[in-house]
Amino acid sequence: MPPDNLTIPSHVGIIMDGNGRWAKSRGLSRTSGHKEGLETAKRIVAHASDSGVSSLSLFAFSTENWRRAEEEVSFLMGLIKTHLRKQYDFYKERGLRVTHSGNLERLPSDVRKEILLVEKDTSSFTGMRVNLLINYGGRDEIIRAFKKYIRSGGLPEDIDEEALSTNLDYPDIAELDLLIRTGGELRISNFLLWQAAYAELFFSDTYWPDWTSENLDEAFSHYSKRQRRFGGVPT
Ligand code: FPP
Repeated sequence: MPPDNLTIPSHVGIIMDGNGRWAKSRGLSRTSGHKEGLETAKRIVAHASDSGVSSLSLFAFSTENWRRAEEEVSFLMGLIKTHLRKQYDFYKERGLRVTHSGNLERLPSDVRKEILLVEKDTSSFTGMRVNLLINYGGRDEIIRAFKKYIRSGGLPEDIDEEALSTNLDYPDIAELDLLIRTGGELRISNFLLWQAAYAELFFSDTYWPDWTSENLDEAFSHYSKRQRRFGGVPT
């Protein structure tokens, strides 16, 4: 449980960065960094769920990550696939509902199959939502939302925020409250662009594999001190 008096954000998004540098600093391969990063993801999912977060979006593979070496891409795909297949009990024990944001089309069919299966198997769970962003790009999601809108007969003159946001991958978890990026870079990198419009930002120098529940509590502590104004003036 996090310390008392913290305001817990409802939807938290994490850019889990620094796996490669973590591995390099230990003389290990980049893939060892991703393996360790997955263990961290489980630790942080458990702590976020215990803390009362409603939805946690994790950036596992971006639409730009295909540019990496083939060996690293296939390792990541294999890691994600095996995790989804083997970790059903982890999600079940905590009642976590798993959803996927991103473009399913370009994913290998075996990964796509595991994603659809875990979404189905956990669809009735009422605990924290774990939204996995796999082959995800914020721009790609917005483009796909436009396409869905047009295909369903939407007219240009009727386009407004609601028309677009209801066509995002998961409209019910649209607003992001806290965006965390680990690993020291100060960028958003195409992460939940629409949903992050009013998110509070928290950047951490710590590489993702080194993240612990204390780091998440620290992010919550910073979030608790922010005054969210959504463009208004405080009363
Ligand atoms: C960024 O670090 C990390 C990734 C591109 C992959 C993240 C994936 C995982 C942690 C495993 C999958 C997780 C789940 C929940 C299924 P980087 O490689 O860019 O690190 P670097 O900037 O130090 O090179």
